[in-house]
Amino acid sequence: MAADVRSHPLFVRHLLVVLLLVCSARYQNAAVYKPVLIIHGIFDAVTDLDDLQTMIGKAHPGTNVTIIDEYTELFSLYPMWEQVRGFQKTMAPIMQQAKDGVHIICYSQGGLICRGVLESMDDHNVDTFISLSSPLMGQYGDTEYLKYVFPHYLKENLYKVAYTSYGQDISISNYWNDPHHQDLYKENSVFLAVLNNQTAKNDKSKEYKNNFLKLKKLVLIGGPDDGVITPWQSSHFGFYDDNETVVEMKEQEVYQRDYFGLKTMDARGDVTTYEIPGVQHLNWHKNLTVFNDYIEKWLT
Ligand SMILES: *[C@@H]1O[C@H](CO)[C@@H](O)[C@H](O)[C@H]1NC(C)=O
Ligand SMILES: *[C@@H]1O[C@H](CO)[C@@H](O)[C@H](O)[C@H]1NC(C)=O
Ligand SMILES: *[C@@H]1O[C@H](CO)[C@@H](O)[C@H](O)[C@H]1NC(C)=O
Ligand SMILES: *[C@@H]1O[C@H](CO)[C@@H](O)[C@H](O)[C@H]1NC(C)=O
Repeated sequence: MAADVRSHPLFVRHLLVVLLLVCSARYQNAAVYKPVLIIHGIFDAVTDLDDLQTMIGKAHPGTNVTIIDEYTELFSLYPMWEQVRGFQKTMAPIMQQAKDGVHIICYSQGGLICRGVLESMDDHNVDTFISLSSPLMGQYGDTEYLKYVFPHYLKENLYKVAYTSYGQDISISNYWNDPHHQDLYKENSVFLAVLNNQTAKNDKSKEYKNNFLKLKKLVLIGGPDDGVITPWQSSHFGFYDDNETVVEMKEQEVYQRDYFGLKTMDARGDVTTYEIPGVQHLNWHKNLTVFNDYIEKWLT
């Protein structure tokens, strides 16, 4: 009897130690989040994305979050393929160190940079690509950005400069998608038409598709109050037809013919689309509700 009384506390202590070990192991497991890479938009400085980095850090302490410091501010007007190569160079070593893969959150023009990185990189290990209000099917609209770069052009006549070889030296022209001049677009767009395989010129289209399909999940975030992405449905792979009526993703030729893998990925169940009202373009990466409700759950 006496022995039992003395051994009891010892047993309890052992039990506590075991529980503690189990819990801390679990805690550590839960705390190992995949690294997150943030790819900025046009004219952004790295610090413009700080809010997003902070929100991730608070929700998932210990996550290694990197805002890729390439082609910021005016350098974001450089040709898209050149930017893609620069981003790739910085992203590759981070991917190599992340044996379980990384997540990428790509904002605005950054979403197209990310499409370029994914399609042209055969050893990427991106788990989830979160596209944050990005003109994934291109842009056709008068915006402050356009006025800044091409002060003398409106959307109706920008094709005259965008679809020339010197026009294609500026990022915006690389994804300018004029629904009334699709032949010129397909012939001259060296970036978006190539990513979409809408031009006969891409002899790597199969490779691009395979690379894209290595992605595990695609999350498309956008909404009607964006104010910059035009049409806003471009953030969901929708776009204007030649009558400027928006045609949704599933009705797009690039989807139906599976030109770069989007249809296959969707059939796999790996494309999620969120239409979120009430968010203006510059607020997507600052809005805590957007982060909590639509982004956080993907970053595990
Ligand atoms: C975050 O990742 C980068 C790139 O892999 C690495 O250089 C850095 O040491 C990591 N930071 C922490 C705190 O783990
Ligand atoms: C184009 O738009 C006009 C006006 O909205 C409409 O009457 C017409 O049917 C549309 N044409 C096509 C081919 O969608
Ligand atoms: C890309 O388009 C060409 C026709 O222009 C076609 O031959 C090729 O199969 C397409 N690639 C993919 C991956 O669908
Ligand atoms: C934040 O996002 C929510 C939707 O999640 C939206 O209703 C709200 O208007 C947004 N606020 C701002 C300032 O963007």
